[in-house]
Amino acid sequence: MFQQLDRLSPDAILGLMAQFRADPSAQKVDLGVGVFRDLNGNTPILDCVRRAEQTVLRAQSTKSYVAAAGRLEFNDAVEDLVLGACGARGARRVRTAQTPGGCGALRVGAELIRAAARETTVHVSDPTWGNHTPLLGSSGLRLERYPYYDAGRCELRFEAMLEHLHRATPGDVVLVHACCHNPTGADLSPTQWRQLAELLLQRRLTPFLDLAYQGFGSNLQEDAAGIRRVVDSVPEALIAVSFSKNLGLYRERVGALITVSGSESRADAVQSHVLQIARSIYSMPPDHGAAIAACIFADETLRQTWVEELAAMRTRIQQMRSLLAAHLRGLLGDGSFDFLERQRGMFSLLGLSAAAVEALRTGRHIYMLADSRMNLAGITPGNVAYVAEAIAAQR
Ligand code: LMR
Repeated sequence: MFQQLDRLSPDAILGLMAQFRADPSAQKVDLGVGVFRDLNGNTPILDCVRRAEQTVLRAQSTKSYVAAAGRLEFNDAVEDLVLGACGARGARRVRTAQTPGGCGALRVGAELIRAAARETTVHVSDPTWGNHTPLLGSSGLRLERYPYYDAGRCELRFEAMLEHLHRATPGDVVLVHACCHNPTGADLSPTQWRQLAELLLQRRLTPFLDLAYQGFGSNLQEDAAGIRRVVDSVPEALIAVSFSKNLGLYRERVGALITVSGSESRADAVQSHVLQIARSIYSMPPDHGAAIAACIFADETLRQTWVEELAAMRTRIQQMRSLLAAHLRGLLGDGSFDFLERQRGMFSLLGLSAAAVEALRTGRHIYMLADSRMNLAGITPGNVAYVAEAIAAQR
């Protein structure tokens, strides 16, 4: 049987991660996989996580199964964080299931869409995170791309996006990055969110909102404002939430799928499908990371520590954006990389060719994705001059 299987090339992001680890150079710089790094280039365990983990370990008396939907207190807290006190929650139209990371939520969400409407097309931004295509597409859904970002001008293509979505078939799904767009770092403004929400309602399109970086853009509240605007406008929505980045719980796989339905009874029906889909893929979500997250959300002191640690991560990345832009301005004598300072979250597209990216990797041991997506959290005051000089030489 296995003779039928040819070897596949590795996933672009995970493959790059492995290449970086195997590179013995002392000069190497990882601007690839999206993980936060501190000033020393390490991905730390947050203090709130260390403390919550001790509490969880002390309190835990069993490793028996939790439930298909995971921890109820985790799910409630996630709804609070993402939606606040919105009308749909008041009307009991919202349900949440804990998932193995944001990827689990995206995949279960895709299967849910397929179960509800087999022929639905999902419209994803051009460009989008590389793993969106396999996560959504392998459920059998058709994917289409809507214009989102002009890499030459380093700005959104919002009018073209609206035009594309105007032509979408009613009933289609639109995947939208809630904040800190991956890979461009370019987000919708509050006015653009409002326009998008109106269009989704008018054209009867269902939003699938991907929230993987809440707190990395402005703060926990503002980064959820676009989602809240949309959920207040439309009858139905899906939201994939990840706590990999904002709690630094990457390997623990902590996420959630929130669904918003037209009525309370429909919400129950939808949740029954979500749980059955989850059961058929991984049965039940892992507990440890969600138990830590729930402990932090419930404890005022730990939560305050989290908010402060999140602000520190966000500020560090923003400072590195400014520092790299300043170095490049100095080297090139123009503001052609000033967009780095205006964008938000971990990523920006540098606008370099694949050959230039390859030259950075082979010649300078600087790793970024082939489309020149760089993780700004990989920049430190110690490597910024080296990286800026290498990028400037490729321009
Ligand atoms: C990324 O975009 O690099 C991260 O979200 C990690 C991943 O799984 O791809």
